[in-house]
Amino acid sequence: MTTDANSQAAWKQAAARAAVDLVSDGMIVGIGTGSTATFAIHALANRMQTGLRFLGIPSSERSAALATSLGIPLTTFADHPRIDLTIDGADEVERGTLNLIKGHGGALLREKIVAVASRRLVIIVDGTKLVDRLGERSAIPVEVVDFGWEATKGRLEALGATVDLRCTPDGEPFCTDGGNRILDCSFGSIADPAMLEEKIGRIVGVVECGLFVGLADMVFIGDATGVTCLERSPGPSVGA
Ligand code: A5P
Repeated sequence: MTTDANSQAAWKQAAARAAVDLVSDGMIVGIGTGSTATFAIHALANRMQTGLRFLGIPSSERSAALATSLGIPLTTFADHPRIDLTIDGADEVERGTLNLIKGHGGALLREKIVAVASRRLVIIVDGTKLVDRLGERSAIPVEVVDFGWEATKGRLEALGATVDLRCTPDGEPFCTDGGNRILDCSFGSIADPAMLEEKIGRIVGVVECGLFVGLADMVFIGDATGVTCLERSPGPSVGA
């Protein structure tokens, strides 16, 4: 599969457009974060210009700023605690389960809050993001509070991870929208994401982790053959 940057961008855009076609009048729409979600924000703005009415709840300050700059009206959980449909990217999508790793853009906490509040979570990716098992290629981003992060790192290492503090290109610790740090935790191939998510969540100092288990309802995958849609088989619902 060709994965040059132009093709990859075109695949992301095609997946984003397919997902945005699911938005209908009057919906509350969760707006994701990252380069693929950015294509979705532009596609939403285009549909708005042809008459679509909806309100967005963004999952990061940067998606909020982009949406606002394109004239997309935003709302909050105070006014709309339930979201009809969220469109977001992912770093890895596990074939079969549609479990995800998210947060390489640093927005995992707000993304998970938005995902769990959504009746439908629609994920948009290019074909390079599909894996047989989560963790094959990506670390799990874990958002931790600043205080005592070194001790929290040690507890994550005790679970078997190689842990790196995420830094900006300037070498400064990355700071999330919530003012927290990100520890990127490489576990290798993950046999039981739900159990690992639970173990990580029990560590004091952890705010949230980038494992999204049982949350994605649909995944649109753009690649050289076009756009394919995978749907999660019916099971217990985790989200709203
Ligand atoms: C943001 O925190 C992430 O969860 C993104 O959704 C994820 O990293 C995918 O980003 P791209 O669409 O830029 O690959």
